[in-house]
Amino acid sequence: MSNLDDLVLRKPKLEDGLAVNELVASCPPLDANSSYCNFLQCSHFADTCIAAEADDQILGFVSAYPIPSKPDTLFVWQIAVHESARGQSLAPRMLEKLLERPVCEGIRFLETTINSSNAASRRVFERLAAELNANLQVSPWLDSERHFDSLHPSEPLVRIGPFNQPREDL
Ligand SMILES: CC(C)(COP(=O)(O)OP(=O)(O)OC[C@H]1O[C@@H](n2cnc3c(N)ncnc32)[C@H](O)[C@@H]1OP(=O)(O)O)[C@@H](O)C(=O)NCCC(=O)NCCS
Repeated sequence: MSNLDDLVLRKPKLEDGLAVNELVASCPPLDANSSYCNFLQCSHFADTCIAAEADDQILGFVSAYPIPSKPDTLFVWQIAVHESARGQSLAPRMLEKLLERPVCEGIRFLETTINSSNAASRRVFERLAAELNANLQVSPWLDSERHFDSLHPSEPLVRIGPFNQPREDL
């Protein structure tokens, strides 16, 4: 098991792209990405992505971005935690640290998709919703037959929020 004592949670940089690509590829059931995609996440989307590094190794990564048409909503694209670092709350720590960034000040909702067979991922988001004292709603979104030609399981949409309410809304 990886020792997370010296863990650093930080913004990714362009040079992390390949290591992130390899981490994601080693974390089924995540879809593997092109390395190009991970280079974009580690550069253009670095402000809303987070890397967890220990001993010069990337052990965790969250890719996310504010939805262009819903700037108060952060869409979490993928979370990957190296097998050796699982079960130590690294995923929730990365999500919480990301939400603390000034760039997320206006974020009131978080959306993601969770494949119904991914119990670990479901637990991470259920616990996050409880931590944020926010509702968690699940609705159909990407359907296996309709959108993936039955080549991929359905990806229901999970929406958490509102949280971080401005004082005047309380
Ligand atoms: C889902 C994932 C990101 C969770 O990361 P994590 O840092 O291990 O999260 P946590 O430590 O909070 O554990 C979450 C759940 O994982 C499970 N878990 C605990 N230890 C584990 C281990 N050693 N190995 C696998 N799963 C474990 C538990 O069900 C735990 O829930 P619980 O604490 O209520 O029992 C990680 O398992 C992963 O990368 N999986 C593969 C990729 C994936 O499915 N990503 C999410 C889809 S976006």
